[in-house]
Amino acid sequence: MNSRRRDSSLAVFPGSFDPITNGHLDIVERGLRIFDRVRMAILVNVEKQPLFTVEERLAIIREAYQGNPRVEVDTFSGLLVDYAERVGASVIIRGIRAISDFEYEFQMALMNRRLNPQIETVFMMPAESYSYVSSRLVKEVFQLGGRVTDVVPPVVERRLSDKYGTPVRPASRRRKTG
Ligand code: PNS
Repeated sequence: MNSRRRDSSLAVFPGSFDPITNGHLDIVERGLRIFDRVRMAILVNVEKQPLFTVEERLAIIREAYQGNPRVEVDTFSGLLVDYAERVGASVIIRGIRAISDFEYEFQMALMNRRLNPQIETVFMMPAESYSYVSSRLVKEVFQLGGRVTDVVPPVVERRLSDKYGTPVRPASRRRKTG
C-alpha cells in the first residue's frame, strides 16, 4: 500500500473545458455533495488546437466559481494519475452523459487504475437536460449564430461573443399558439 497521504475529501475533475458548459457545472455541483473540494484540472495539450487558451479557460472557471472556495482550478500536463497523486487526491471525477461516453471513459478509468490503483474514478451523470450538451457543439452552434444561453454560464457566452466578435443572440420570441 502506498503510504503517501491522500485527501479523501478532495476530488480532481479533469478535462479540456474548452469551454465549460452547464453540464460541467452540474457535475461539479454533484461532486460537492460528496467531496469537500472539487479541483477542476485543465489538460494542457500541445497537440490540440483549443478555441480558448489555457489562461482564458482558467479565467472563465475562476469567474464562474468566484466566491466558492470549495471549487479550485488548476492546469496539468502529463498523466492524470500523476497529477492526482501530486496534489494528494484520491478520486477522479468524470461525467457520463450517455452510453456513448461510457466505452472511452471505462477504458480510461481502467488504464488509470492500472497506472495507480490507489486512485478511484467516480462516474457521475449530469441532469438529463444536459445529456446532449458538449463543448464542441456549444462552439459550433454559437459560431453559426445559434443561442447557447441555457447551456453555458454567462461568462462563457460573453467570452464566446468576444472571441468570435459576434453579439450574444437575444432570446427568440415565442409564437402565440391557439
Ligand atoms: O474533456 P476531455 O477532453 O474529455 O478530457 C480528457 C482528459 C483530460 C481527462 C484525458 O485526456 C486525460 O486524462 N489526459 C491526460 C493524459 C493521461 O493521463 N492519459 C492516460 C489516460 S488513461
